[in-house]
Amino acid sequence: MPVTKFDVEEKYSYQNGFDSYMESEAVQGALPIGHNSPQKPPLGLYAEKLSGTAFTAPRHENKQTWLYRILPSCAHPPFVASASSPISSSDSESKLHYIPNQLRWDPFDHESTTDFVSGLHLVAGAGDPTLKQGLGMYIYSAGQSMPEKTAYYSADGDLLIVPQSGVLDIQTEFGFLLVRPMEICIIPRGIKYRVVLPEGQEARGYALELYQNHFILPELGPIGSNGLANARDFQTPVAAFEEDFGTTAFDGPSSWSIKVKFNNSLFETTQKHSPFDVVAWHGNYYPYKYDLGRFNTIGSISFDHPDPSIFTVLSAPSDKVGTAVADFVIFPPRWLVGEDTFRPPWYHRNTMSEFMGLIQGGYDAKKGGKGGFVPGGASLHNVMSGHGPDVDSYEGARNAELKPMKVGEGSCAFMFESCLMVGVTDWGLKTCRKVQAEYNEHSWGGVKVHWERGTGKKTEGQ
Ligand SMILES: [Fe+2]
Repeated sequence: MPVTKFDVEEKYSYQNGFDSYMESEAVQGALPIGHNSPQKPPLGLYAEKLSGTAFTAPRHENKQTWLYRILPSCAHPPFVASASSPISSSDSESKLHYIPNQLRWDPFDHESTTDFVSGLHLVAGAGDPTLKQGLGMYIYSAGQSMPEKTAYYSADGDLLIVPQSGVLDIQTEFGFLLVRPMEICIIPRGIKYRVVLPEGQEARGYALELYQNHFILPELGPIGSNGLANARDFQTPVAAFEEDFGTTAFDGPSSWSIKVKFNNSLFETTQKHSPFDVVAWHGNYYPYKYDLGRFNTIGSISFDHPDPSIFTVLSAPSDKVGTAVADFVIFPPRWLVGEDTFRPPWYHRNTMSEFMGLIQGGYDAKKGGKGGFVPGGASLHNVMSGHGPDVDSYEGARNAELKPMKVGEGSCAFMFESCLMVGVTDWGLKTCRKVQAEYNEHSWGGVKVHWERGTGKKTEGQ
């Protein structure tokens, strides 16, 4: 059978909502009504259930989707270990080193010979996919689309993708997602996908793999029922499928290469039918995307600024209430009006670890330019490692005339924040060759003493 060509308008249609129960059928009548698994599903399809939580998870956490597809996913020869790894070129490069130093990286290289999977590099992480605990933080760099008739999935966790440059055209079992810089997407554990680079443009960005739980919207508390990332702005694909199969599962006209990341090792198999053969689906476990430009930023209108948790887009809770395995936090353009307030981030040491990246523009607490914090680069401030504005940013903010001002125009920094101490890989420390050796000295070596002994000065309010 020929591969279906997709109409562009239909290809990039979406359903709106977060953690909603959704359904989509690419062919009318493909979804059974009032049944999940009829004796003979409509149109000769197979019913297949994909669960994202234990069957018995509480109703408010329970995630599952029913897929109605041409052939079931199990119809493939056994997987064999792959010669290449998605996280490094050798096991030693993915070994984690736990060090207290503040780290900052120059922009990571654009790689011309890699695709999305072969261009994934683990930079830092904690925990263990086999125990479903922890997370991995990645840089990806792709110079090519994934080859035709290939697909990838991770059994290790949900992948949050943060493009920094280049558009990702992602074909998933659930339909298509077009994800541009300043948008993010999440591909849950187990879902197969293929990443195409439209018009051959190079792509680079950041990613976080979540080994435990799933992302949720943060509680709003006294903020009320709207604000931050609003549920209706999350977008999920509509069903789209290809017809590429033979008379039986193992007798098809073409070969598809399926790769899986399983406990951070890569395995592959070759099957004789397209994995993108889901004609209809219904459930609440699906891939989705979000436009960061729609984030409703909230801050102080009197003095001091709130903790950066006010900028949380998505949160992946640990088993301890209010403590995240991973928060995804952004610092978008916003107005600052605080009176008698040091407006950039204060100096701090956190029990959480903070991995930051810059999608575009500059960041108000760090200078850009060569050797600075620039788009495509990153920084890591691990558990209890002190950090804060560099000397120029501090002195500038200390002496600035305080008036309403817009900060971060054309800019968006983000943070992967975790309650876990994260280790850094050899790739991150050495192989990538982007670590800034002079980070501490450049940032804080020139911090001045302002101590005024004995003047008895107190600020208003003390
Ligand atoms: Fe911080």
